[in-house]
Amino acid sequence: MTHLIYPTTNFKAIEQISIERGDGCYVWDTEGNQYLEGLSGLWCTALGYANQELIDVTAEQMKKLTFSHMFGGKTHKVAIELSEKLADMIPMRDPVISFGNSGSDANDTHIKLLRYYHEAINKTEKRKIIARHRSYHGVTVAAASLTGLPVTQNHFDLPVDALGILRTDHPHYYRGKERGESENQFVDRIVSNLENLIISENPETIAAFIAEPITGASGVIVPPEGYYEKVQSVLSKYNIMFWADEVITGFGRTGSDFGCTTMNIHDPDMMTFAKQLSSAYMPISASAIRRDVYEAMIDQSAAAGAFGHGYTYSGHPVACAVALRVLEIYDRDNIFSRASATGAYLQEQLKKFESHPLVGEVRGRGLLAALELVPNKELEHQFQDGRVGGVAQKMAQDNGLLIRTVAGSSIGICPPLIISKNQVDELVDKLGDALDKTFEYCKTYKLFT
Ligand SMILES: Cc1ncc(COP(=O)(O)O)c(C=O)c1O
Repeated sequence: MTHLIYPTTNFKAIEQISIERGDGCYVWDTEGNQYLEGLSGLWCTALGYANQELIDVTAEQMKKLTFSHMFGGKTHKVAIELSEKLADMIPMRDPVISFGNSGSDANDTHIKLLRYYHEAINKTEKRKIIARHRSYHGVTVAAASLTGLPVTQNHFDLPVDALGILRTDHPHYYRGKERGESENQFVDRIVSNLENLIISENPETIAAFIAEPITGASGVIVPPEGYYEKVQSVLSKYNIMFWADEVITGFGRTGSDFGCTTMNIHDPDMMTFAKQLSSAYMPISASAIRRDVYEAMIDQSAAAGAFGHGYTYSGHPVACAVALRVLEIYDRDNIFSRASATGAYLQEQLKKFESHPLVGEVRGRGLLAALELVPNKELEHQFQDGRVGGVAQKMAQDNGLLIRTVAGSSIGICPPLIISKNQVDELVDKLGDALDKTFEYCKTYKLFT
């Protein structure tokens, strides 16, 4: 009998594998089996496992100051230094940053900042947020309401309408195109749907549009060229903020420094970070906003006595010290440009699977990719449930490769940024073998259509 409620888990399929230790790009289970981490844990262990420098900085900070809060203007050096370093790195002009503990709570913070700000500038009605179908923004009550995946939404009776959350198209050409539609036409149609939604809802009631530059949990969807330029031009026409959720795409993941850079998103108004911010050595997240938004809230917070939001662990000194060192390592060791080179190599190798009978689409950028498994390549049919994806994941695991099936039947791939070319070869070989075995399984159980 378990005393644990497992997160994001089928309660009838718990305790699948017990991981005991990690080193570099590998982890080992309690039986001594070695696995190549093909998903960086949950898209987060950028610098791999057992990095001695990060272990040392954690211990040093713990010896110095294990905790100090930041309520009421109390401060400490390491949180200030981290905010300065982050502000320098991210593709926003002069941002102001709030720290949290997870991607979900950082997105909640943003929802509250949006509301607080619009009240401060006497625009209380400007509070709706446009999110995309199949997006993933986390699981707290508010972040799950932004998320557009059925498994995260169903059965929870989330306050989607009360929070003013609107939905627009998911920018996945392969699945979303109409018969005979080109990529350009697809983009024009979904951006025009977005504009129509804005007009019908009244632009004066819409605060922001949230997007993962490249999605993660919905199957690593890379929107077609030109999509974000057109979206940004519509948003600026109606004075709606662009909110980039870079929880997965931040910090060298997509072949450049940030997903916004890779995808030509210019000067977002708000950004969310977590995961690779600390390479998952400590839980920490960040919500960045424009300075003028912050400044507009100052008088209101003074009149109220406080900006009444923040977590006990906002700016936790140990998490900040670790994140600061992670960012320094990214710079010092040229991690982003190295990851860009291995990422290009990974994408090239994965392209080989385009001809595999089980693979409908290969997509991704940098060290972030997915293969969509399909029961019929020509007709682009989809598997009805996650069974085949689950089989592929298990076959890979039995081969010593950890990957994750996302959005039903897509295999997500997201190895640590420090992965070598040889390890990419190992990943691709093991994946190819798992695909072949899954193909045999599909033939045996007549799962092709
Ligand atoms: C884009 C995105 N936003 C937010 C989150 C939520 O982050 P967390 O699980 O740390 O709450 C995730 C998690 O995978 C994510 O991928």
